[in-house]
Amino acid sequence: ESGKLWGGRFVGAVDPIMEKFNASIAYDRHLWEVDVQGSKAYSRGLEKAGLLTKAEMDQILHGLDKVAEEWAQGTFKLNSNDEDIHTANERRLKELIGATAGKLHTGRSRNDQVVTDLRLWMRQTCSTLSGLLWELIRTMVDRAEAERDVLFPGYTHLQRAQPIRWSHWILSHAVALTRDSERLLEVRKRINVLPLGSMDATSERDFVAEFLFWASLCMTHLSRMAEDLILYCTKEFSFVQLSDAYSTGSSLMPQKKNPDSLELIRSKAGRVFGRCAGLLMTLKGLPSTYNKDLQEDKEAVFEVSDTMSAVLQVATGVISTLQIHQENMGQALSPDMLATDLAYYLVRKGMPFRQAHEASGKAVFMAETKGVALNQLSLQELQTISPLFSGDVICVWDYGHSVEQYGALGGTARSSVDWQIRQVRALLQAQ
Ligand code: ARG
Repeated sequence: ESGKLWGGRFVGAVDPIMEKFNASIAYDRHLWEVDVQGSKAYSRGLEKAGLLTKAEMDQILHGLDKVAEEWAQGTFKLNSNDEDIHTANERRLKELIGATAGKLHTGRSRNDQVVTDLRLWMRQTCSTLSGLLWELIRTMVDRAEAERDVLFPGYTHLQRAQPIRWSHWILSHAVALTRDSERLLEVRKRINVLPLGSMDATSERDFVAEFLFWASLCMTHLSRMAEDLILYCTKEFSFVQLSDAYSTGSSLMPQKKNPDSLELIRSKAGRVFGRCAGLLMTLKGLPSTYNKDLQEDKEAVFEVSDTMSAVLQVATGVISTLQIHQENMGQALSPDMLATDLAYYLVRKGMPFRQAHEASGKAVFMAETKGVALNQLSLQELQTISPLFSGDVICVWDYGHSVEQYGALGGTARSSVDWQIRQVRALLQAQ
């Protein structure tokens, strides 16, 4: 006997290099628990179908429990013929209970088994990752609530745009993550399907592709947030300071404190995208049903799951320990960021927005030419641009007043930010 599950029609031995090339046990051993779980359910099905007696089923169930116990205690010994986790577990079951073990595989293939195992494993992983994702979102919302009176510049094109609440920035990232959580639930729904019994079932890996895409999009969001924070903790911005717990130093320049945690979050995104693209490449053009190419799906799933778990925990740590420099944030606001509000001032006096935009632009140009700040233009100077300017224009030059104007849903007014916090908290509660 070759010790292989498929040895009957073979005479010659497999080249040792091929043996190693073919084996997946080095990584699919992570599936030991779900493999036992799946086999236990399957043996119950065989008994129902009359293919196992009750006594045989009990013997198999008992043996499988013993196999699981050995894995759990770290005493399971692999041997050189254990090609994959399915082979290893069945080999050990046979050693423990004898020939009855050979009845377990009736009517199933390892192709059925592996896809069942992977779905069971990923179902659990989705729940774990969802918990970690919500931990991060909770941390962000807590911060947003505690620091909602801090103002700082909002940017487009990395150019100062309009004053916003710091909380508004936090929430803009948190809301993206709530969509990731929603998507993960959807993916889990399609993972949580019994795959036994159809041609499609043994060969489709849509659920793996969806999971890898879910991770890719979530990493896109996390790396964008990381990039903002990397900028904000430079001396040039000095809006935030990363905790020592999530920074490292330079071996050469003693003054350096580098945001390695955030840089790694940014870079892991590339690794996750690679796995997603790699799997799609593997799947494309495969002929019907199972092909060994599909064995390659598992390393992608394991690596991406580990990466997501680490990234989410580090991001939570970074956000919860971050210090903000409220003064620097306030000082980064400049009167030109109120030019939009100046246009709205004219709109309130009845001027069409396009004209008001033009007029405010002229005021910006005038201030620039005169070398003064926008709020330093005199009323007379403003009135040369439009007679609609009057003494009350002074109210525009107040950042606190500015943010409070934006009270629509999703705006930066305190009431809007509070509303956003309540929305995210309601989602948190529903978890
Ligand atoms: N180790 C294989 C995998 O991971 C299990 C299925 C192998 N089936 C086969 N007929 N060679 O996909």
